[in-house]
Amino acid sequence: MSLTHTEVAEPTTAGTEIGSPATEVAVPGRAPAPHGRAYTVGRTEDVPPGEGRAFVAGDTQVAVFRLRDGSLHATQASCPHAGGPLADGQTDADVLVCPLHLYAYRWVDGVATSGAMAVQVYPVREVDGMLVVDV
Ligand code: FES
Repeated sequence: MSLTHTEVAEPTTAGTEIGSPATEVAVPGRAPAPHGRAYTVGRTEDVPPGEGRAFVAGDTQVAVFRLRDGSLHATQASCPHAGGPLADGQTDADVLVCPLHLYAYRWVDGVATSGAMAVQVYPVREVDGMLVVDV
């Protein structure tokens, strides 16, 4: 497993709601996104490859990550174990590792590899140079 360091950015303003989110696919063992609204949270260049940043989408704190392969992922900003700053976690192609106690969460569904609680994962995409998260 190849891990990379991420940095935490100060949350931005509450983001701009831009309309309906993409259709969410139900994943067993994971709760659906609670609100179903799309927010523009920042610019594409705000999250460099291999790093993560914290943003606010409406009333939800999210962490957005760009992996080295260019793919984007988004999770809740705080670790469900003890509130660790997930945007400062380590990443690889399969998991996000919390910086506090090293729980690993799968990108695909947010489930902890240890069987502990899951993190909420959110759809994220780039639209016209902006990062859009559905929360
Ligand atoms: S706070 Fe994240 S693993 Fe403990």
